[in-house]
Amino acid sequence: MARVAILTASDKGAAGARADLSGDAIERLCRAAGHEVVRRAIVPDDREALARTLAAWCDEGLASVVVTTGGTGLTPRDVTPEATREIAERDVPGIPIALAVAGLRSTPFAALSRGIAVTRGATLVVNLPGSTKAVEEGMAVLLPLFGHVAELLAGPVEHGGPLAGAPGA
Ligand code: MTE
Repeated sequence: MARVAILTASDKGAAGARADLSGDAIERLCRAAGHEVVRRAIVPDDREALARTLAAWCDEGLASVVVTTGGTGLTPRDVTPEATREIAERDVPGIPIALAVAGLRSTPFAALSRGIAVTRGATLVVNLPGSTKAVEEGMAVLLPLFGHVAELLAGPVEHGGPLAGAPGA
């Protein structure tokens, strides 16, 4: 079980002009898998606003995982990966690879998502695209990881953790 926060990047969503269907899908899939959804917000496709929200959520320690949706593509307003990079401490490059591999099975357009995954403090931040289809495909990759991610970010684990075998461990 993990605590999950969901951040939707969408100009139209933030203006109330579009329903947050991809955020809803992430929430539904998290709950169905037994995870707790602790926070949701919709922010315009604005690098500073996104970075500020992500940094605040990570530094508050409210969730082990923050999933963003939207703003990963190639239009000039797609800035979610840049905002995520700005607040990153460590890269988790395997996650975007796993998402791309899974996505490419369904559409070649999966190659057009620039989403990244990073950690800041004890929180993993993962960027998913904005379509509900992409979210459903992406969450199938991510959900099995969340429990272990939460354990790892909470500190050393007994089996093969970073301190296993270290002197005095
Ligand atoms: N990934 C998966 N798994 N399934 C999809 O349908 N759509 C792609 C891609 N990633 C897609 C996907 C498309 S069409 C785009 S433009 C990019 O994600 C970026 O989407 P975004 O700008 O909404 O973040």
